[in-house]
Amino acid sequence: MNHFKMNIKNNILETIGNTPLIKINRITQSLPCQVLAKVDYFNPGNSIKDRMALKMVEVAEKEGKLKPGGTIIECTSGNTGMGLALAGIIKGYKCIFTTTDKQSKEKVDILKAVGAEVIVCPTNVEPEDPKSYYSVAKRLSQEIPNSFLANQYDNLANRLAHYESTGPEIWEQTDGKITHLVCTAGTGGTITGTAMYLKEKNPNIKIWAIDVFGSLLTKYFKTGEIDMKEVHPYISEGFGEDFVPQNYDMSVIDHFEQVTDKDGATMARRIAKEEGLFCGYSAGSCLQGLMQLKDSLTKGDMVVCIFHDHGSRYVGKIYNDQWMMERGFLEVKTFRDIVSTRPAKQKLISIQKDQLVSEAVDLMRKYEIEHIPVLEANAPIGSISENGLFQKMFSNPDLRNSKIESVLEKAYPVIDFNTPVEKITNLISRETGAVLAKDESGSYHILTKYDILHSLTH
Ligand SMILES: Cc1ncc(COP(=O)(O)O)c(C=O)c1O
Repeated sequence: MNHFKMNIKNNILETIGNTPLIKINRITQSLPCQVLAKVDYFNPGNSIKDRMALKMVEVAEKEGKLKPGGTIIECTSGNTGMGLALAGIIKGYKCIFTTTDKQSKEKVDILKAVGAEVIVCPTNVEPEDPKSYYSVAKRLSQEIPNSFLANQYDNLANRLAHYESTGPEIWEQTDGKITHLVCTAGTGGTITGTAMYLKEKNPNIKIWAIDVFGSLLTKYFKTGEIDMKEVHPYISEGFGEDFVPQNYDMSVIDHFEQVTDKDGATMARRIAKEEGLFCGYSAGSCLQGLMQLKDSLTKGDMVVCIFHDHGSRYVGKIYNDQWMMERGFLEVKTFRDIVSTRPAKQKLISIQKDQLVSEAVDLMRKYEIEHIPVLEANAPIGSISENGLFQKMFSNPDLRNSKIESVLEKAYPVIDFNTPVEKITNLISRETGAVLAKDESGSYHILTKYDILHSLTH
C-alpha cells in the first residue's frame, strides 16, 4: 500500500506564508540572547508583501470592490506589486502600478515580467503633486472603469494579513517564547498587524520599529508631531515614510530606531556573506537597528527580526561595489591611499629614452627597484624592467652602453589616482609590472606588484 500523501499546490498563491525562522549565528555573537530571522523572501514573489497583497485582493472581492475582469491599481515600490501581480494572474485581473524613479530598474522589469503595466513617476515631489505616484494611481482609478485602488497605506487588509498569518506563524515557531519583534516600518502593515497578534498573546513582548533617517515616522512616534523638516531624500528602499499611513497603530509599538543608509546597506552585505541569507536593503537596516539597541537585551531574550525581501532586487545597488563606493558606503584602499603612505619627498624614479642602459641599472641598484617608467615631456612612452634587462644583457653584455630606447618595453597603463586596489590587482601581470597615475599637481606615481602586496599586508 502507498503511504505517501500527494502534496500538490493548486496554484502559486497557495505557497504564500509559512516561511522559515532562521537563527542568526555570527553577526549577533556579541548579544546575550538568541536572534532569529523570519526570512520572508521564501514567499513566491520573494517578499513578505505577497501576504498582504493577496489579502487586499480577497477582502476587495468580498466587499464587492473588485469584480471579475477588473483592474488592480497600486502605487508600489515593487514588492506589493509582485504580490498583486501573482494574485492578478491566478484570479484574472489586470494590474497597473505606479512607482518612483528611485526604485531599482530590476524591480520595474520584474513587475513587467509578470504581466503588469508599470508607470514610473518622479520621487522628489509632494504626495499631492499631480505627478506623484500617489496622485497618478488615484487618477487612473477614477478614470478606469471596474478598477480597484489597493492603497496599501490606508487599506487595513494590509495589517490584517500580518495579524492573521505573520503573527501566528512567529508565535508558533518560537513556541510562544518570543520576547522582542524587530521590523522595518513603511506602510506599517507588517509591524502593526504582527504586533497586534503577538501583544494579544503576550502584552510583554517588545515591538521595535526600525526607521531610516529622512523619514518622519520616528519623530511622529516620539512626539505625535508630523514634522516635514524631518523629511529628506534617503537611499534605503522599502521603508520609512513622509506621512503616517492609516495601517499604523502606534500603541502596539514600543520604540522607533533610525538607521543610516550606509549602515543598513553594509549590514545587508554582511548578512549575505556571514549568514548566507541574501536579503534586501531593509533586512540590513532591521538587523543594524537591533545592533544599535543591543544594550537593552538580556540573557534569555528571544528576538525575531523580520527580513522582508530577497537580495536579487538589489544586485545593481547595495550588492554592487561601484554603487557602494560612489555613495561612500564602501571603504576601499585606492592608488591614492597607498601613495599617501610614502614619504612626502619621494619622487617617481624615471628615465629618458636617450639615457644609457647602465644608468637604468645604477638607478635600480640605488633605489632597489625593478621597474622604471621611461618619460618624455612628462608623458610615459615606455618602461624598463629588471627582468627584461637581465634577459637582454645576458646575451649581449655590451648593451650597457646602448641607449634606453633600444631596450624599451611597453609603457605602464595610466589609471585614475582613485582607482581601488582590487582593480589595480587585475591590471598588474607578468607583462605589466606596474601602473601609473597622476595626482592633482600633474606628477606621476607608480605602483608595483610589491606595493600592492605590501598594502594588503599592512
Ligand atoms: C523591502 C521592504 N522592506 C520593508 C517594508 C516595510 O513594510 P511595511 O510596508 O509593511 O511597513 C516593505 C514594504 O513595502 C518592503 O518592500
